[in-house]
Amino acid sequence: MIIILNNKCNFTKEEFLIYQQKLSTITTSHELVLCPSYPHFSLFSLSNCVLGSQNVATNGMGPYTGEVSAEQLKSYDVKYALVGHSERRKKETPKEMLEKIQQLCKVGIIPIFCLGEEAKEKQQRELEKDLLFLDNYLTSKEKEQLILAYEPVWAIGSGKLTSQEHIESASRTIKKYFPNNKILYGGSIDQENISILKQCSTIAGFLIGGLSLEIENLKKLLENLEN
Ligand code: 13P
Repeated sequence: MIIILNNKCNFTKEEFLIYQQKLSTITTSHELVLCPSYPHFSLFSLSNCVLGSQNVATNGMGPYTGEVSAEQLKSYDVKYALVGHSERRKKETPKEMLEKIQQLCKVGIIPIFCLGEEAKEKQQRELEKDLLFLDNYLTSKEKEQLILAYEPVWAIGSGKLTSQEHIESASRTIKKYFPNNKILYGGSIDQENISILKQCSTIAGFLIGGLSLEIENLKKLLENLEN
């Protein structure tokens, strides 16, 4: 499975170095993807993780103050990048998200497109809106490279556990448009509920936010995932 450790906007330089040291003691058969803040990329030295990015620019390299392009990420051996995370969405248009996916595909970074409903009962309608858009505007080559991450907004950072049934219903909707792509799940995952979540047969991996910052609990989560 693919396990994304989304550190979000956490850790000073010193804190990151301590965190990375602790993270280096983890062994797992799963693919660990660390998504730190940009300044920490040059400090990254783990052999048990690959690098992921929390974001990417819509533009290539050039006069774009404050942006980080896909080519720059590629030069740090970034393997995956998130696009459209709900914590960024209010600042992004669908066209911009599309451009981000295109920039990533151009340099061979795997885009992980995040989608999920704001309110539980609107799952179908909100997912379909994003999926239709992607289906209409991505080329078949870009579609092939895409990973979809189902992250219901109401479950992120809330401690509210999504049921297996609710995840399976999202997977069915996603599979209507992207039958061969990997689907990940994220939202309030912890070391206990992973035992239930891992039973979702359509899910190829998880996005871990808050718990990615706590190494001991992360170790327990990975143990529970193996057993
Ligand atoms: P939490 O695990 O803190 O709910 O965050 C999930 C998330 O946003 C991962 O991208």
